[in-house]
Amino acid sequence: MREIVSPVRSIDGMITLPGDKSISHRYGMLAAIAEGRSVIANYSTGADCQSTLGCMAALGAKIERDPEGRVVIEGGALREPAAQLDAGNSGSTIRMLSGILAGQSFTSVIAGDESLARRPMARVIQPLTEMGACIEAREGAYPPLTIHGRPLHGIDYTLPVASAQVKSCVLLAGLFAQGDTVVRELVRTRDHTEIALREFGADIATEKRVIRLRSGARLRGRELFVPGDLSSACFFLVAALLVPDANLVIHGTGLNPTRSALLDFLVSMGASIKVLDLRQTGGELVGDLRVRSSPVSGGVIEGAMTAALIDEIPALAVLGAASQGGLTVRDASELRVKETDRIATLESNFRRMGVEIQTAPDGFRIPGGQKFHAAEIDPAGDHRIAMAFAVAALAADGPCAIENAECAGVSFPEFFATLREIAH
Ligand code: S3P
Repeated sequence: MREIVSPVRSIDGMITLPGDKSISHRYGMLAAIAEGRSVIANYSTGADCQSTLGCMAALGAKIERDPEGRVVIEGGALREPAAQLDAGNSGSTIRMLSGILAGQSFTSVIAGDESLARRPMARVIQPLTEMGACIEAREGAYPPLTIHGRPLHGIDYTLPVASAQVKSCVLLAGLFAQGDTVVRELVRTRDHTEIALREFGADIATEKRVIRLRSGARLRGRELFVPGDLSSACFFLVAALLVPDANLVIHGTGLNPTRSALLDFLVSMGASIKVLDLRQTGGELVGDLRVRSSPVSGGVIEGAMTAALIDEIPALAVLGAASQGGLTVRDASELRVKETDRIATLESNFRRMGVEIQTAPDGFRIPGGQKFHAAEIDPAGDHRIAMAFAVAALAADGPCAIENAECAGVSFPEFFATLREIAH
């Protein structure tokens, strides 16, 4: 599907976004292994999170929708799947679920699409093997993964990469291990797993980037609400900052402090963003955001900031090109192993739009004050690249075509419809 996005002058209205992708994965997995019934409202509509539900159903969880559209999961002990598990495009599904599968008493095979087949898995195979698991992978490092469940033991593990998926994988394996599991982070990453584990009844504590999970707790099903996805909101925040006349309210957005560095970064660049009505649900912070068009200076993303903003960098790159001072991104070699090599897909599409970018192995520099020229955009199947360049198209000098735009559905199937609703 090809989406044509034309330049606009104004963005206004009030929107509510689908549930956070990261939190939905965690609730889906934990509900499936918890005893009893969980009811999850505002579960992500993205294909990735449906992949997680598909895998958990294939592992024996009973999953239905109630009349209000909530996901109802009857959890308990998992059973050997009849066929290979399909994680689709979802790195979170394969990496986090590997932790659960490693501790079962059966063997399972998990794979996904072409993009997933190229994503590195040694980062989870290594700690799981240390815990006693036995995992085979293509070339020792890529999906499909054949996971022979074994009795596991807890480990004390320092994360060599700043990855919440790897942290979560080890903690989820820890649920099935003998003895306590400790994960140490050098750089803080999103803590949705820790929060969700606590909500489901696990005994888990975090002190100064050291997470300790006590073995033996029984998880119990519960009712939960997934806050709106801040990473999806980011596209609309950037859109509102780019167009001349914007006043947009985004309701019920997740504002977990390990994710909200985005807002601090935008505000530090001069963005007019206000948080209204801060509240809590299931241990997660939620608020409404009001954003108005504002001129923004440039910025630098590096070190711990890079890990905190990793999914938002495609959208921020677009803002950087239009900002006064441009954007520099460093310490971001992880971008090379996302759904696409995002440094390369940003570069190729910026060039199509006549936007200058200098790349490095672990980042890039985009000078500010640039104009976006109408172009055909090829997101190469990467949802965040498709949405970032759709936002750039709003400020271009003519209509742009986003090829294979349906890939936005990996995290946000309603993206183009929502954009049409608010952009005029
Ligand atoms: C995620 C962690 C990040 C992020 C991904 C979601 C998560 O990946 O890029 O979109 O839900 O834990 P890494 O853990 O590989 O950095």
